[in-house]
Amino acid sequence: AQGTGIVIAIDGPSGSGKSSTAKGVAKARELRYLDTGAMYRALTWWMLHHGVDVSDPAAVAAEVSRPVITMGTDPGDPTVKVDGHDVTADIRGERVTTNVSAVSAVPEARELLVRTQREVIEAARAESAGIVVEGRDITTVVAPEAPVKLFITASAEARAQRRSKEVRTGDVAATQADLARRDRLDSNRAHSPLTRTEDALELDTTGLTLDEVIALVVKLADEAGGE
Ligand code: DC
Repeated sequence: AQGTGIVIAIDGPSGSGKSSTAKGVAKARELRYLDTGAMYRALTWWMLHHGVDVSDPAAVAAEVSRPVITMGTDPGDPTVKVDGHDVTADIRGERVTTNVSAVSAVPEARELLVRTQREVIEAARAESAGIVVEGRDITTVVAPEAPVKLFITASAEARAQRRSKEVRTGDVAATQADLARRDRLDSNRAHSPLTRTEDALELDTTGLTLDEVIALVVKLADEAGGE
């Protein structure tokens, strides 16, 4: 798909396998990759680092435009920087994970990041590179015109299993409870909640391996005019 400027939009809940899928597809077809969840995490990291009370939407709104968030779009090395500081590892920590839903519910934060996300997509298309973009509102808000739109899901048990492997805790039940809490927040917020639209293809990855899911999405991308 290289050289076509194709946009592949992927939404889904945490632990559904969407990040691994998005990265794998981008590598397989030499596309750029944008993890929009990492942008909300980077913004949350900055707020916490600067002592902003993230439970106060007005406080978050007042500061949103201060951090400079730079996203690496190489699927082999998706580095995230805030004010020039590499936060790629830090944004996966528990403190950010616990607070990111609150920050991502603030309309001013979404407005700003959606604008940046569209700029990244346009930049990729301008160099005919094509891009895989993943998050919660990519098919609905950020890139509703994308030729490939997917909603990736998996059973709550499968998602908790995968996530607890990622974070290396044996406590699958606690992980499942935390995922359920974040799903609830992300799906019920007033602004751009996680929703599946009619025209996004739902892909349940519960019984599939990562390679099988990647192969499936690559095929869809090729059929959509990527090759
Ligand atoms: O995919 P993730 O777990 O890294 O996402 C972190 C948080 O950011 C998650 O709680 C939902 C939110 N998010 C969002 O609101 N919109 C997006 N496009 C991506 C993520």
